[in-house]
Amino acid sequence: MAGFSVTRRRGILAGAVTLLSGQRAGAQEDAPPWMRQQGSPVTSPPYGVPSKFEQNVIRRARVAVKFPSASSSGTPLQDLHGIITPNGLHYERHHAGVPGVDPAEHRLLIHGLVDRPLIFTIDDILRFPSVSQIHFLECSGNTPEFRDPKPDWTPQDTHGLLSCCEWTGVPLSTLLAEVGVQPSARWVLAEGADAAAMSRSVPIEKAWDDAIVAYAQNGERLRPEQGYPLRLFLPGFEGNMSIKWLRRLKLGDQPFQTREETSKYTDLMPDGKARQFTFIMEAKSVITRPAGGQQLRDPGFHEITGLAWSGRGRIRRVEVSTDGGTSWRTASLQEPVLPKCLTRFRLPWTWDGGPAALRSRAIDDTGYVQPPREALVDVRGINSGYHFNAQQTWQVAQGGAVSNAV
Ligand code: CO
Repeated sequence: MAGFSVTRRRGILAGAVTLLSGQRAGAQEDAPPWMRQQGSPVTSPPYGVPSKFEQNVIRRARVAVKFPSASSSGTPLQDLHGIITPNGLHYERHHAGVPGVDPAEHRLLIHGLVDRPLIFTIDDILRFPSVSQIHFLECSGNTPEFRDPKPDWTPQDTHGLLSCCEWTGVPLSTLLAEVGVQPSARWVLAEGADAAAMSRSVPIEKAWDDAIVAYAQNGERLRPEQGYPLRLFLPGFEGNMSIKWLRRLKLGDQPFQTREETSKYTDLMPDGKARQFTFIMEAKSVITRPAGGQQLRDPGFHEITGLAWSGRGRIRRVEVSTDGGTSWRTASLQEPVLPKCLTRFRLPWTWDGGPAALRSRAIDDTGYVQPPREALVDVRGINSGYHFNAQQTWQVAQGGAVSNAV
C-alpha cells in the first residue's frame, strides 16, 4: 500500500504493562487511500450493516437434517465485546421454524383460572406501562460437552446458544392483574404461534416476579427469529421457556405436562430417573479470548477476557486460572454488574510462549461456585444434554495454538 508502510516493534514497556507492538510514528503522516476521495453519503441500505471487513462475524447454524425447521444457530461470542449481543447475532433455536406473524392479526389470549379472560392486540399491549431490562438468554442445551466434546470447538461451538440484550415490554404481573388471577392458579401455560405450538408451564411465582411480555430488543421491535411481535421473557430461566410468538397464557392449578417438559428438556440422571422442571440456569462462565480456534501471536501481554452469568442473580466474582485450575486469580468485572445478565470479566496475562490451560469459574451472589467438569459429571452422569455448566478449559499449545481441552 503506497505511502503506508508499517514497521512493527516489539516489547514497548508502558508502566507495568508490556505492550505487544507499535508502529513507526512517521508512517501515519501519509494519507491512506480512503482519505484521498469523498466517502459515500448517508449509508445504504438505510438500515445499517457491519463493515464488509467484518463479514465473518456471523451466526453459525446447526441444521437438523431430518427436520430443517428444528434447528439452531450460535452467537459468535469470540468476536463480540462488552456484554450486549447485536440483534442480528442473537442465537436461535426453533422447534418448527420462524413463523411470519402479521402484528395486525396477532392476538394474546389470557384465560383459564382468571376472573376476566381477555384478548389483547399488539396496540393494547403497547399502551401498558413498559419496562426495559438487560438479561442473558441461554438455551439449556448450550455447551454440548457431556458426551463427546471436540478439540476444534470455538466459544461459538461450546457456548454460542447464549446471548444478552435489553428487552422491553410489559411486566407479566401487570397483565395478570388486568385479568384477575384466581387464588387456585399455580401455573401458567405459555403457547407460541409457531407450527410447533411451542408450550411450557411456568410457575405462578415466576409470572408475578420478573417475567415480562416483550415486544422490543436492543431498542427496536423484536426480530422475527426472536418472537416478533411478542414473546415471553423469563430472566434466568432456560431459554425455551421464554416462549416466542406468544399467543396464549392459560392459568391452571398444576403444570400442563407439555411435550417440551416431558420428553424433552428433562435431565436424565445416571440412575435412569429424569429431573423435570429444572428451570434456572446455574452460574457459568467462559473465556472468549484467548479461546479455541485462536492463535496467540507473540509471547508477552495478552488480555484474558470472557463472560460470566447466573440465573439466580448477580455475579459476585470470577476467578481465572492459566494452569488448568491449580492456581487462581481474581478477574476485574465490568460495571454495572446486573442480575441475570452477562458480566464481562478481564484479567491481564503475560504469556511466556509455552503451554498453558486457561480456565474460568464464576461465583454468584448466592455463593454458588461453577463446578469443574469432573464434579458435575460425578453427580449428573453423561445421559443428559441439558444444564452443562462446568468450567471450560482452553489449551494453549507451545507456539500459541488454542484448542478445546477434552
Ligand atoms: Co431444565
